Amino acid sequence: MNTIDATTRELLEKTEFVTIVTQGPDGPHVVGNWGDYLRRLGVEGDRIVLPAGHYNETEKNLQRDNRVQVMVASRAVKGSRAPGQGGVLSGTGSVQSEGEAAQRAKAAFPWARGALVIEIQSVKMHL
Ligand SMILES: Cc1cc2nc3c(=O)[nH]c(=O)nc-3n(C[C@H](O)[C@H](O)[C@H](O)COP(=O)(O)O)c2cc1C
Repeated sequence: MNTIDATTRELLEKTEFVTIVTQGPDGPHVVGNWGDYLRRLGVEGDRIVLPAGHYNETEKNLQRDNRVQVMVASRAVKGSRAPGQGGVLSGTGSVQSEGEAAQRAKAAFPWARGALVIEIQSVKMHL
């Protein structure tokens, strides 16, 4: 069974932005991405791919500790009590400057130096 279920997929289809958290030597490190960038590179199975323009600190963090958390949310997705759902996707990630995902990111975003590739291992809805 896929970790990315129907609700998570709907969130990925509707989230405006993406918040990505890695663990740095001095604590958590937070960076962003756009939902439409994520959708342009697509979701394959439990893998999400984002264009990496900078993400230098994120790359270093992932080389030390590849665990990553991603928050997505949208008012347009039904929550358990009210309009609006959001959740945290946990998995492992790497910044790749070569290979299929990096090539795809560079082709779609000429400014990208590669791709941030995240394998989702669990999802927790928050609303
Ligand atoms: C909404 C939003 C979208 C962003 N999109 C990207 C992006 O597509 N690629 C990227 O490298 N940085 C993007 N950034 C900038 C990152 O958050 C971050 O500041 C930058 O990549 C530096 O990363 P680092 O601190 O890991 O070195 C975005 C930031 C925001 C707030």
